[in-house]
Amino acid sequence: MNIWPAAIAWRVKALPGLDRAKAIGRLAIAAPSKTAAQTWGWTRLEAPAGVDVWLISWLPSQGTELHDHGASSAAFTVVAGTLTEIRPDDGRLVPQEFRAGRTQTVDPGDLHDVLNAGTEPAVSIHAYSSPLTRMTYWARDAEGTLVPTRTVETDEPETEA
Ligand SMILES: [Fe+2]
Repeated sequence: MNIWPAAIAWRVKALPGLDRAKAIGRLAIAAPSKTAAQTWGWTRLEAPAGVDVWLISWLPSQGTELHDHGASSAAFTVVAGTLTEIRPDDGRLVPQEFRAGRTQTVDPGDLHDVLNAGTEPAVSIHAYSSPLTRMTYWARDAEGTLVPTRTVETDEPETEA
């Protein structure tokens, strides 16, 4: 679902590099509150060949499930609001908050979950290289061991399973 009005997309496209990212953050944060969307929205940003870049808005309580990005490396930067990333670490699932301006990298094979645990919308920019083609979702089995539950072929970012 793309919730970004065409007028915003046009204005953002006219800006260069970092200015574009900043503008996206400012413009995008208002967009979710103007819609009745009950899910988050994302839009693809222009990027060099070999990289997919997406702008994602997260309404409160929206998130993914524990997943990997297949063979793709990834990074995300929080543009507005706060996101929580959860990663497995020594048998535990450890949350870490990322406020606006912080960037996290995700190596191929890393597992993480991303969610908006706050009360305000959040906006982030996610880059994948090579472009995302596959995500595998993970969950604990009866013994508490993380196991893959399903793999989906997708080029869409951080999607709800
Ligand atoms: Fe992810």
